[in-house]
Amino acid sequence: MNLTRFIIIVAVCAAVLATATLNIASTPNSRIVTGGEIQYKSSYFSHESHVGMGFGCQDCHIEPFAFETGEMLTRPDYSMQAMYEGKFCGVCHDGSMAFPSDRDCTSCHNVSGGEIIYTEPVMGVIFSHESHDMFGCESCHEGLFPMEALETQKADNFNMEALYNGLYCGACHDGQMAFAASTQCATCHIGVKGYNRSK
Ligand code: HEC
Ligand code: HEC
Ligand code: HEC
Ligand code: HEC
Ligand code: HEC
Ligand code: HEC
Repeated sequence: MNLTRFIIIVAVCAAVLATATLNIASTPNSRIVTGGEIQYKSSYFSHESHVGMGFGCQDCHIEPFAFETGEMLTRPDYSMQAMYEGKFCGVCHDGSMAFPSDRDCTSCHNVSGGEIIYTEPVMGVIFSHESHDMFGCESCHEGLFPMEALETQKADNFNMEALYNGLYCGACHDGQMAFAASTQCATCHIGVKGYNRSK
């Protein structure tokens, strides 16, 4: 049999197999286990909706995604930057096949970070996601802050001087967009008492 014919047969078999898998997968009593609903710390992925749209397991497994929830998080290259460059979710979430990764943050990120109280270098500085909900996630999570509580306080220069120079909170707390970091000290500094109250 010639090569083209062979390829066609393989392709047809694959298609039939894929359809069969899909049908089984979408039958409620299916014995095929999909990955279900995956809730990461701040974002989620739904197998039900993606398989329901017609994607087969092989569209995502084993490349680009591991068959194990959280496995991807151990890879340093599983980042938004990679998604913007068309990898991982960004293979499809590129603004043409599906909504883009570099906008629409809240389509995937369904949990914001709550209340964070810094403890270093001084105890008790409050940041509340709720009181900043007039901004999109990208205002702060594209370079200004990681999505990891207290990560920033590991930096040596997380101090008032940096804020006065427009870094970190000072990017907005400059007296124009928001009250200046050189005023209303106690609005941010809730101190040891405020910290204890929050426990
Ligand atoms: C659109 C992409 C996509 C499709 C299609 C897809 N998956 Fe997944 N799957 C993922 C992602 C993303 C993860 C999580 C990987 C991670 O976080 O490490 C995952 C994880 C899993 C897991 C691990 C779940 C756990 O609890 O650890 C299983 C099992 C799985 N998928 C099975 C399937 C099966 C079976 C199909 C076909 C019916 C399928 N997947 C189709 C993207 C997909
Ligand atoms: C194989 C292509 C493909 C991959 C890979 C993929 N998606 Fe999707 N996704 C789609 C399509 C197509 C839609 C529906 C079209 C739209 O809403 O723009 C969609 C819709 C969604 C939705 C809205 C529907 C719902 O489930 O609530 C979310 C959220 C989502 N994707 C998250 C993700 C995340 C997170 C990843 C990576 C872990 C991912 N997707 C990977 C193709 C893909
Ligand atoms: C298509 C789904 C999707 C969209 C849209 C999306 N993200 Fe993500 N994002 C993810 C997934 C999946 C992860 C990895 C799991 C996690 O950490 O929640 C992630 C991780 C992150 C992280 C931590 C890892 C890193 O790269 O630093 C940040 C910060 C982030 N996203 C910010 C954003 C911002 C800002 C936007 C909008 C401009 C956005 N995301 C849009 C799916 C998405
Ligand atoms: C005004 C700035 C700002 C905006 C807007 C913002 N964040 Fe954050 N976010 C932060 C800061 C600051 C931290 C803590 C970073 C640190 O301590 O290093 C944080 C941390 C987080 C964390 C980690 C929480 C934890 O307990 O580890 C998540 C998740 C998060 N943000 C999600 C989001 C999502 C989703 C959005 C959009 C809906 C969003 N953020 C919008 C500033 C912001
Ligand atoms: C993207 C801009 C932006 C960033 C970054 C930002 N803020 Fe704000 N913040 C605002 C705006 C706007 C307001 C409300 C307007 C006002 O009060 O001037 C506000 C209000 C506040 C308030 C008063 C509301 C409340 O919760 O009591 C506190 C406290 C605060 N910010 C702390 C911080 C801290 C701490 C950081 C850094 C970890 C930070 N902000 C980063 C824009 C920002
Ligand atoms: C917009 C919020 C905000 C305001 C307003 C603010 N601070 Fe801060 N401050 C911070 C953050 C964030 C840190 C670093 C995290 C920590 O130390 O817990 C910090 C740290 C400090 C530190 C320890 C680091 C250093 O620079 O020496 C001192 C002292 C301090 N602030 C004094 C003040 C005083 C005095 C005022 C009023 C003139 C003030 N702060 C107003 C957010 C603020």
